[in-house]
Amino acid sequence: MPNSIRLHELIASITARFDAAGLVFGHGTSNAHDEACWLAAHALAMDVAAELPDVELSPAQRLAIDELTAVRLKQRQPLAYLLGEAWFCGLPFSVDQHTLVPRSPLAELINEQFQPWLDMRSKQTLLDIGTGSGCIAIACAKTMPWLQVSGSDIDAQALCLAAGNAQRHGLGDRCRWLEADVFCGIDEAFDVIISNPPYVPAMQAQTMPREYQHEPAHALFSGVDGLDHAAAILLDAADHLQAQGVLVLELGESAALLQQQLPMLPFIWPDLEHGGEGVIIAELGMLQRHEHAIKSWYQQRQQRSKS
Ligand SMILES: C[S@@+](CC[C@H](N)C(=O)[O-])C[C@H]1O[C@@H](n2cnc3c(N)ncnc32)[C@H](O)[C@@H]1O
Repeated sequence: MPNSIRLHELIASITARFDAAGLVFGHGTSNAHDEACWLAAHALAMDVAAELPDVELSPAQRLAIDELTAVRLKQRQPLAYLLGEAWFCGLPFSVDQHTLVPRSPLAELINEQFQPWLDMRSKQTLLDIGTGSGCIAIACAKTMPWLQVSGSDIDAQALCLAAGNAQRHGLGDRCRWLEADVFCGIDEAFDVIISNPPYVPAMQAQTMPREYQHEPAHALFSGVDGLDHAAAILLDAADHLQAQGVLVLELGESAALLQQQLPMLPFIWPDLEHGGEGVIIAELGMLQRHEHAIKSWYQQRQQRSKS
């Protein structure tokens, strides 16, 4: 190994090592090169979003990058956990192993203020169920400064992290944090309910890449078919929406199964240009019209899980 090395050369070598080791990405980056750049930028305290200059590295700088690279290769943790930081909607968030690493395709809708799907100017209150790091709630508060935002989670430690993230972005006075099991413990109604709940079918736990196994199981899995949380949300959402309220749900691949199981519900399916899938929108009126179908579907699921 040469004594001196330039940054771009080192990044190329880390990229090759990441690829050769078969690392899996998807926690903030989608490929080995971007991951190597993020790692190096963090180690050198450089701007993650800017193009990295091809500077000659000091021995201390090289050591810092090499050490982080070795840990990423050995532990197979998402880089965000090693750095304690992830990015969402262009904002940095503190993350740890109590929270999912932010990566929701809802970011695209938030950046566009949900145009053309929703008129967010007419909305005042928003609840983010399963808020984790608070990324969705906080990004909504930042992008739409007229909103009062609540984030709820079953995990008290995640809520502490979310509260810290809100302070970090100067939003402490417009965000509040509620410990709740879906709607249990929440007595109010909101203009918008948004959620990226757990939606991975339990069986997939065995086949998930190692990187995903570092994330909390209660943030990923949702019963046999991935729809337990979605069912609980759909059952009671109408009771927690204000007039003209809307529910925005991210369900990934499980959204198609939901539509199969409830074919009579005309969800709105926003197009997402920047990837991701399975985001659905349900208006209060539609949920009320189909209240009976939702209830019987929910009860059938309950009976099946007991038998
Ligand atoms: C897929 S993660 C989403 C985290 C964050 N909103 C994001 O997009 O990165 C799901 C979150 O739901 C929370 N959760 C799991 N079960 C829950 C429940 N019964 N009630 C409320 N939150 C729950 C988990 O703790 C986790 O933070």
